[in-house]
Amino acid sequence: MTRVVVWGATGHAAVVREALGGTATLLALFDNRDIPSPFDGVAIHLGEAGFDDWERGYRGERPVHGCVAIGGAGGRDRLARMHWLHLRGYPPLAVLHPRAFIAADASLGAGCQVLAMAAVCTRATLGEAVIVNTGASVDHDCIVGDGAHLAPGARLAGEVVVGECAFIGTGAVVLPRIRIGAGAIVGAGAVVTRDVAADATVAGNPARLLRRNPSHA
Ligand SMILES: CC(C)(COP(=O)(O)OP(=O)(O)OC[C@H]1O[C@@H](n2cnc3c(N)ncnc32)[C@H](O)[C@@H]1OP(=O)(O)O)[C@@H](O)C(=O)NCCC(=O)NCCS
Repeated sequence: MTRVVVWGATGHAAVVREALGGTATLLALFDNRDIPSPFDGVAIHLGEAGFDDWERGYRGERPVHGCVAIGGAGGRDRLARMHWLHLRGYPPLAVLHPRAFIAADASLGAGCQVLAMAAVCTRATLGEAVIVNTGASVDHDCIVGDGAHLAPGARLAGEVVVGECAFIGTGAVVLPRIRIGAGAIVGAGAVVTRDVAADATVAGNPARLLRRNPSHA
């Protein structure tokens, strides 16, 4: 049985736990915010100090894997926390729902989450800590950068390139061969017909620029 600690205690943690089903034992849950636990009987340890306390008291078996349940447009935080956990000795756990489709020749980086009814099609490449959320799809030959998140029902047509930590909102559609820049946000339900600049937010059908996001670089 795989052992895992989860960082992030919002609804996405519940989605991840369901996806893992009986294949992993959740040992501990961490969050930077003092919020109620989404799970009965599993307390939240607060921040890095809480992690240190938990780790000092842990007497169980190893290895223990790390999983980061930070969704939304938090790709940079998810990626950074995944690397932090890895450096602390908790290798990233891939969360691949048993009802997701992943083509045999697709390539997935460390710590990807491919959730229920999602599809990652032939020759697609996902970087590290990518989320392909419930019912989202990544078609043939797409390249999805580290930390990107496709929200539930988002759809990438073939040969789309998504930059690092971009967020594609729920139900959005991205037409073939479009390039979405790093850190960009695509609004829910958008239809993206033109390339999107790095750190831009676009929305609507056809998608239009709403604003430029402050750069996180
Ligand atoms: C696009 C988005 C990021 C904009 O958020 P925001 O910067 O807070 O923008 P606001 O809510 O202030 O809206 C600004 C304007 O854009 C419009 N707008 C917002 N989201 C829109 C969308 N998805 N499609 C079309 N128009 C949208 C608003 O109606 C508003 O228009 P107005 O100025 O004419 O009133 C957000 O609305 C969105 O779609 N997020 C995706 C959420 C999602 O998919 N979550 C999944 C979690 S797993």
